[in-house]
Amino acid sequence: MNILEPVKFKNLELKNRIAWTPAVTCLADQDGMMTPELIDRHMKRAKGGFGLLMVEACGVNKMKSPGLLRLCGEEYVEGHKKLNDACHSFGAKTTIQLIHYMKQSPRNNYKRPIEEMDKAEIQGVIKEHIDSAIYAKKAGYDAIELHVAHGYTLSSFVSLLNYRDDEYGRNTKGRCKIVTDIIAACREALGDDYCIGLRISGEEFVKGGNTLKQTTECAKIFCEAGVNFISVSAGGKTEDGPWYTGYSGERCMAPASYPQGLHVYLGKGIREVCKGYNVPVIIAGKLDTLEFGQKVIDEGGCDIAGYCRPGIADPEFVNKAAAKDPSLVKCVYCNTCMDRDRAHVPVNCIIWEKVCEKKGVDPYAPLYQG
Ligand SMILES: Cc1cc2nc3c(=O)[nH]c(=O)nc-3n(C[C@H](O)[C@H](O)[C@H](O)COP(=O)(O)O)c2cc1C
Ligand code: SF4
Repeated sequence: MNILEPVKFKNLELKNRIAWTPAVTCLADQDGMMTPELIDRHMKRAKGGFGLLMVEACGVNKMKSPGLLRLCGEEYVEGHKKLNDACHSFGAKTTIQLIHYMKQSPRNNYKRPIEEMDKAEIQGVIKEHIDSAIYAKKAGYDAIELHVAHGYTLSSFVSLLNYRDDEYGRNTKGRCKIVTDIIAACREALGDDYCIGLRISGEEFVKGGNTLKQTTECAKIFCEAGVNFISVSAGGKTEDGPWYTGYSGERCMAPASYPQGLHVYLGKGIREVCKGYNVPVIIAGKLDTLEFGQKVIDEGGCDIAGYCRPGIADPEFVNKAAAKDPSLVKCVYCNTCMDRDRAHVPVNCIIWEKVCEKKGVDPYAPLYQG
């Protein structure tokens, strides 16, 4: 299994086993509509060689969040279609990460608990995911990715920290029920050929939260419910501190002090379950080079190697790394991009900007001409 060679699963034929895992760009307009700048960022990574572009977290509802992309109405479809046309023109396949989040206030680390949701509200959340998934297919995405990771709504249901005592809690099956309900409804709406995947935190890294013991059980339930890929992240829970602070937040976007491939063991554990269902696993977290990604694939840590910040630092990461091009701008895991995300300003790489400045070129000269 060569990282640079094609792979096929479900309806997805990827030109290589390399995924760019999602990162918000904070470049949508104030209503969450697509912008040329947002298209441009993803298009450059498509040109840069990523086989699978996992487009950023995208709201299924209209709750306020500055710069967040949305797909929650017919009026959003056209913009997403332009993004897909742009990325497909370079031979990349696309997924869109559908996210639902509860009202929160980072200032005092308040997040509305899922235990407050009644059944009607849960049905509303399920419906928002189905509608958004239908728009996604219409807009030309090759797959949807449900955001069941980090501190957001679906992951809060799946967590051991879900204290509901109805059928959407109580035990692992109950905690996964909102997700399996969404998978079943999306399957019916999108058809058997369409690819439905999700992202989970393989370990939550908060006291009382999920560890690999629970998440392998969840992965089995999701495979049986018919998902077509599982992308494995980690941490990101707000119990440890708001907006990716605290230990759990740090594990999610590990800074320079953490080791290479710190979550590979989670990919390996979850893949043990998924193998039996022929469901590929994507792992991200400081894979940092193509050689290391190949090693992770060889050793059974994933089927598809996920890179996020390397593709923010240099959108041409794949092509340049494969060609051993010395002009590759390497991510140093300083997390300035993450700080920008937290400040709701465009998520750009400071090193990329400095290198371009030195060369006298515009770091964000547009490729997209739409
Ligand atoms: C600025 C920034 C924004 C991110 N946004 C998302 C997101 O929208 N959805 C998601 O699942 N993960 C998000 N992530 C996490 C990445 O997908 C990835 O899992 C993480 O950065 C570790 O991979 P890496 O070491 O290759 O960067 C984000 C990461 C960064 C740095
Ligand atoms: S800002 Fe820092 S962490 Fe982010 S992509 Fe650039 S080098 Fe990597």
